[in-house]
Amino acid sequence: MNDDLQQLCKTLHLAHLPEGVEKVPFDDPRSFLAGVLRQEVEGRHQARIARLIKKAKFRERKTLEAYEWTDTVQLPATLTQPSLTSLQFIDHQENVILMGSSGTGKTHLATALGQEACQQGKEVRFFQVASLVQQLEEHFRAGTLGKFKRGLDKCDVLILDELGYVPFQKEGAELLFHLITDCYERKSVIVTTNLEFGQWNRIFGDNRLTGALVDRLVHHAHIIAFKGESYRLKHALSHQKSIHSSS
Ligand SMILES: Nc1ncnc2c1ncn2[C@@H]1O[C@H](COP(=O)(O)OP(=O)(O)OP(=O)(O)O)[C@@H](O)[C@H]1O
Ligand SMILES: [Mg+2]
Repeated sequence: MNDDLQQLCKTLHLAHLPEGVEKVPFDDPRSFLAGVLRQEVEGRHQARIARLIKKAKFRERKTLEAYEWTDTVQLPATLTQPSLTSLQFIDHQENVILMGSSGTGKTHLATALGQEACQQGKEVRFFQVASLVQQLEEHFRAGTLGKFKRGLDKCDVLILDELGYVPFQKEGAELLFHLITDCYERKSVIVTTNLEFGQWNRIFGDNRLTGALVDRLVHHAHIIAFKGESYRLKHALSHQKSIHSSS
């Protein structure tokens, strides 16, 4: 490509044109121009999705395509599989709570829903709860809590992964409570947890606060139960079996 074209693309902020312009079929000038502009629009769209995925800070790449819908996952009467995966709950600022024992696919599904939301142009933030509480405490002490929360203001979906594995101190529990209260009816929260609601006071350490928190979270929520064996264990066992049978 000549320098002149490179410079024109730069001046017009057409970041996605330079490399691929030669590949656009040339039938007539108008359809060529349309093809070239379509390439720029598609390039911008893909770049926005990549930015959203990076900003969400997922811990892993997990997709809905790779998710096996088995009877481990028990959807509530309020939710069908297509309505979940098309993310209608986000448009209605509803919550999704994925509840069940270890290794049953809660984080996979929460991450995949979050990544699908990014594909749809939505802002997502993924946190492991213990790390979020630690960040809230640090910002509170440093006097930067307001700024940290404003950074979350624009997001459509907050994913809180692994609620229940680590208990909090009183201050951390209160900070998390306020954050969830801020989200109430304004954005969707996806929670993964190994604990039933009746046990949440064990991690929050305060019955009244736990009650108020559960009340807000479940008011507009779909609760998905995960039953059965750990996927990790099942795969480790079948892997072992195949090693033994081949030896
Ligand atoms: N239904 C499924 N389809 C495809 N992969 C699955 C499924 N369920 C679990 N897995 C895989 O099994 C592993 C464990 O799943 P995951 O981490 O989501 O479990 P979890 O319920 O979040 O467990 P924990 O409570 O210990 O955090 C992951 O690698 C995940 O991709
Ligand atoms: Mg998990």
